[in-house]
Amino acid sequence: MRIRRERIAIPSLTKRLEGYRILHISDIHFNQSVRKNKLLWEELHGNEADLILITGDFITHDRYIESLCQYLEGSKAEDGIYGILGNHDYYYRTLWQHFRHSFLGRDYFPNDWKKLVSYLNGLGITMLVNQHVSVTSSKGAEIYIEGTDDPVLGNPAIADTTPDYQSSELRILMSHSPDILYSDEIRKKKFDLLLSGHTHGGQIRIPGIGALLTGTEHASRKEAYGMYKTMTGLNVNVSAGIGYSLLPIRINCPAEIIKIELASAHS
Ligand SMILES: [Fe+2]
Repeated sequence: MRIRRERIAIPSLTKRLEGYRILHISDIHFNQSVRKNKLLWEELHGNEADLILITGDFITHDRYIESLCQYLEGSKAEDGIYGILGNHDYYYRTLWQHFRHSFLGRDYFPNDWKKLVSYLNGLGITMLVNQHVSVTSSKGAEIYIEGTDDPVLGNPAIADTTPDYQSSELRILMSHSPDILYSDEIRKKKFDLLLSGHTHGGQIRIPGIGALLTGTEHASRKEAYGMYKTMTGLNVNVSAGIGYSLLPIRINCPAEIIKIELASAHS
């Protein structure tokens, strides 16, 4: 696994958010192999980030909820930890499950996502499912964080403008898939940063081409991975994630966590 470092220039950034550190983690897909990912747990427990944001697919199978929570326990960030749900949090979808679904017409097995949300909230990881919060940073900055339901299997919605959104100095949206970029919902507000995952960066990336498969319905290959700016000026980061959902293969696409630092200007 690698640590990808990104610096985002937000010209309107207030002084007290200069150098603000966000740890973006996605698609943990907790299992016996992720359990051994020392760097992931060190970063979560290291208390180095101001904010930790986790963009869905905590699990593949709900039998790992308790075990996942044992490892997440003790995760720390000065201004809190927030999460959203991904499609795999709702349904158990392995390669075998896809085969059963596609060729035998069987339904996917549902995961106990309500238990997952309850356990994560209990650990102090605030789950935002079509919900938003206002966070006052340790330096007194007002940060608005909104999380949508999963765009793949859920019903993503973005709230109407509220006074806390209007008075905030930084506006962050979390949505599991970058497909949210193509929803009418996203036009409701002007966010500074969108964090997504879901695509796993394609898991197999060909130099000069990119991901072979993105798992997105609308987002293009370029929009399915990495840090970029949209035509409307929205900063987007799509993570390659931590674990696997279908094939346990990664080529030119390492698992990653992303350390984002905010700045008012490029340097
Ligand atoms: Fe995933």
